[in-house]
Amino acid sequence: ALTFTTAAYAQDYPNRQITMVVPFSAGGPTDTVARLVAEKMSADLGQQIVVENVGGAGGTLGAGQVAKAEADGYTVLLHHIGMATSATLYRNLAYDTLNAFEYVGLVTEVPMVVTARKDFEPTDFAGFMDYVKAHGDELTLANAGIGAASHLCGMLLMQALETPLVTVPYKGTGPAMTDLLGGQTDIMCDQTTNTTQQIKGGTIKAYAVTSPERLKLFPDLPTAKESGLETLEFGIWHGIYTPKGTPAAINERLSKSLQVALADEGVIKAMADLGTAPSSAEDATPAALKAKLEAEIARWKPVIEAAGVYAD
Ligand code: MLT
Repeated sequence: ALTFTTAAYAQDYPNRQITMVVPFSAGGPTDTVARLVAEKMSADLGQQIVVENVGGAGGTLGAGQVAKAEADGYTVLLHHIGMATSATLYRNLAYDTLNAFEYVGLVTEVPMVVTARKDFEPTDFAGFMDYVKAHGDELTLANAGIGAASHLCGMLLMQALETPLVTVPYKGTGPAMTDLLGGQTDIMCDQTTNTTQQIKGGTIKAYAVTSPERLKLFPDLPTAKESGLETLEFGIWHGIYTPKGTPAAINERLSKSLQVALADEGVIKAMADLGTAPSSAEDATPAALKAKLEAEIARWKPVIEAAGVYAD
């Protein structure tokens, strides 16, 4: 009887509005990705997906809210690599990352850029590294809290340069960008989905990218790796999750709709303009996201343990 009920329920899905929790501030990089896909998924599902920004504690607050939500397919989470790093960074996480969610699929993978306020002295990445090493204790590094992508990148940068900076946490790099533009903070590692416009407009400076190859968008920017920072090579992968117990048929339905959104010409173009690309249809599946999360928890655990940074 239970199987029948679940199947019947899934068949009727969705019959009302869906909430997509973004665990960072509105106007930031995760929010940008969420709004791009939510609009097209809404059209495919025939129901509105409303984005709700629940910023704080490096993305763990929003993820925690979804972990506790009804497993009925009407609350979903769009989160990034922080889902994996927070599992090690937080010793007292309110949820058990690998057992609190079901999976819908991967969305995109976004490169990061090492940026600084526009009047920051160094003119290239070699100069940037020397300057940071010489002036570390006077420089501020903005991030979106422990567990954010900007935190991971900043942590690896400080480790590679053997220079601790004064870190300033925000609820997202949206508000952090406002302070970088205003010159209230000096340096930030952030995703191209939040920095491209400002770099092109010359309102912030960019020094290096974390992708394996240089970006088409900024061919003059070196990769961190080619500049000698071997550890600074990674992309910020995003995925969509539902609370544990959400029926498989619903996760599959959401995955199909995600695949439709990611194949949309407008989405492909908007992502390309922001230095990224949609995940493939194969990757926009529950199995691919589950495998990615497991692999990424294993990848970052020893790195974080070696750095010795934790949040309580
Ligand atoms: C955001 O949307 O604010 C970000 O993804 C923050 C981050 O993780 O650095």
